[in-house]
Amino acid sequence: VGTPIYQNSTFLFPRRRDEDGHWVDNADWMYTRQGNPTVAAVEQKVAALEGAEAALAFSSGMAAIASSVVAFAGQGEGIVAMSEVYGGTVALFNDQFKAMGLSTTWVEGVRPEALVEACTESTRVVYLEMPTNPFNRCLDVRAVVRMLGKRFGRNRPKVLIDATFASPVNYRPLEDGVDLVIHSATKYLNGHSDVIAGVVAGSKALVDRVRVQMKNLGGSMDPHAAFLLARGLKTLPLRMRAHNANAHAVAQALESMTSKVEQVWYPSLESHPDHRVARRLMSGYGGIVTFRLKSAGSRAARRVLEALELFYPAPSLGGVESLASIPSLTSHAALSPAARKRLGITPSVIRLAVGVEDVDDLVTDLRRGLKAA
Ligand SMILES: Cc1ncc(COP(=O)(O)O)c(C=O)c1O
Repeated sequence: VGTPIYQNSTFLFPRRRDEDGHWVDNADWMYTRQGNPTVAAVEQKVAALEGAEAALAFSSGMAAIASSVVAFAGQGEGIVAMSEVYGGTVALFNDQFKAMGLSTTWVEGVRPEALVEACTESTRVVYLEMPTNPFNRCLDVRAVVRMLGKRFGRNRPKVLIDATFASPVNYRPLEDGVDLVIHSATKYLNGHSDVIAGVVAGSKALVDRVRVQMKNLGGSMDPHAAFLLARGLKTLPLRMRAHNANAHAVAQALESMTSKVEQVWYPSLESHPDHRVARRLMSGYGGIVTFRLKSAGSRAARRVLEALELFYPAPSLGGVESLASIPSLTSHAALSPAARKRLGITPSVIRLAVGVEDVDDLVTDLRRGLKAA
């Protein structure tokens, strides 16, 4: 019933050859960087969750992103990417990829037309993220794929999406024509804040191209991490149901606290700019709820975090525990003040990663925290 852990780096050479001299025994497994039974078991589970032919597991979400992009784009070619993607992704594209001669055109906002217009004949990858951090922006992925096909035909750029914030329970982008879906499995897929991991899923042909990069760049998953991830996946639907329900209730409660809260961003709220697109494409919206305090400046936001008891002050998301952070001081601290202002990440914006605790306890904690603002 459980997945055994093959905690070994190397496997015995086959002991038998056929009449032509080819090895015939245990030829599937040679060396764990290239493949391992425990890792392969979790890859099959991820493929099933995404409705994909194949999946690959990595040592981190960043390893998954790096290996996937370089499988399709190289020197002298281009990427078109949404500007509101994870900060580590921005650094990877602007530093490493640029040094490799692979240029990125950043497109602000979530307009499919703008992304497609930014593409040229040398664009090999269109890179998306949904929902985005921290404002849960959602774009019409179907329209992006359709418009790219119309403009470039069969040679359209590959569409890659980081759907970490959604999880395959809430959104399966391959059904909308995306070529590869990527996750930081560190987050919802594992769900217990005790593993760093990444996954990629798609057609076998495309995943095989990424596999070559995984072997070369070396970001393979460790078997023990694969075991923990497989264990976490067993409760993914239960956890996502709780994250979705708790975050919706927390978002509604915050929206009613009008004396302290200026704005709340959660896709189930009618006030969210992408409410309609999110409802059309997704079946739930995950645990991230972001809000802006009425008091400007970061002092009030810091006081709220200090007064919270159930929400731990910590980065990341996707574990069963509720967390709170101030994006201008954490996830988006590396951006210039002007860039943060353009994105709307002012010092009084607070991001919650709502966990699976009792929702009344969570709302009570937030009321207490907001009194301190
Ligand atoms: C949306 C998103 N993508 C990718 C990553 C990177 O994943 P990892 O930390 O597992 O390398 C993160 C990490 O926070 C993330 O939030």
